Amino acid sequence: MTNGPTPPKPRDFTMDFGDADLTARMRRGMEAVEKLLGERLGTGEEFITDKVTHLVQAGGKRFRPLVALLCSEFGPQPHTENVIKAAAITEMVHLATLYHDDVMDEAAKRRGVDSANHRWSNTVAILAGDILFSHASKTMSEIDTETVNYFADTFRLLVTGQMRETVGARGGDPVEHYLKVIEEKTGVLIAAAAHLGARHAGASKEIVEHCEGVGAAIGMVFQIVDDIIDIFSSSSESGKVPGTDLREGVFTLPVLYAMREDSPAGTELRELLTGPLTKDEDVEHALALISETAGRQRALEEVHRYLDIAEQHLDSLPDSPANRALRQVSTYTVQRVG
Ligand code: IPE
Ligand code: IPE
Ligand code: MG
Ligand code: MG
Repeated sequence: MTNGPTPPKPRDFTMDFGDADLTARMRRGMEAVEKLLGERLGTGEEFITDKVTHLVQAGGKRFRPLVALLCSEFGPQPHTENVIKAAAITEMVHLATLYHDDVMDEAAKRRGVDSANHRWSNTVAILAGDILFSHASKTMSEIDTETVNYFADTFRLLVTGQMRETVGARGGDPVEHYLKVIEEKTGVLIAAAAHLGARHAGASKEIVEHCEGVGAAIGMVFQIVDDIIDIFSSSSESGKVPGTDLREGVFTLPVLYAMREDSPAGTELRELLTGPLTKDEDVEHALALISETAGRQRALEEVHRYLDIAEQHLDSLPDSPANRALRQVSTYTVQRVG
């Protein structure tokens, strides 16, 4: 039964990958993903579908489906039905984690609108995330058991990352802890998108592995950049509330580097950041102190290290419009922070 009262708005995929054929294929592919998402997530009773489609309609970059479709270009049958399904699954899982993440992070905004937990309640947001997982599992089962098996590992690692972030570094090196967390909570799903896109297009094992490597590295870039944005951008740029991680006592890479700094700002920051920040003025003060350090610069250096890794994998993949498009996507990811 498909009776979603408010199907997702048609999206306009106006991307240009520098190659007319690829751009046209990608537009068709992304539209097919969107159609499938609309059909699946619009299924069920209205009191469910309105919650589940809340974030789908609000926007989002559809980054993981994009990576899946681009990687499918390395196989002999790009954009097959299973590729489209795999791409849609990555967005469903991503969405589910966003619903749950905003509960964990007590975030009030997402994709420029009220988060589900803020608009309704934590209970509603958790259940909406769970419904999304059910749609994802159902769609996976239509592909093959290998995909279900692969995604089970993806889920486990993703949740492990969120749990690792929650329990903290526990005496270990905070930067190493952070990098492990983001590899799991973000890198793994983008790597899965790349892997499944290539595999379901019939690419060889070697190509699938290099695609997964590209996805994992771009995922690291993506999350570090997102964490830089959380500190240094306004809400109108990110669609989220700046300093959300800091408020929760989650110290991301620019903050960790800032806190290590042997400077007056670094010292004051270490004193201020002994736990979650409850007062708005403390958050603002902390953000100002971080800006006085080299935290942003050092985090960007790390971004470039992962960009190099992505490039090494791309160098091992055949040169093609899709290869060049993936390079463009990596660069775009970094341009979000200038
Ligand atoms: C947000 O992901 C969560 C992170 C892993 C950083 P996106 O930046 O892809 O969010 P949407 O899909 O565009 O909203
Ligand atoms: C993203 O984590 C959530 C997942 C990858 C599961 P964050 O908490 O860092 O992302 P934002 O800033 O809320 O999007
Ligand atoms: Mg969050
Ligand atoms: Mg989080």
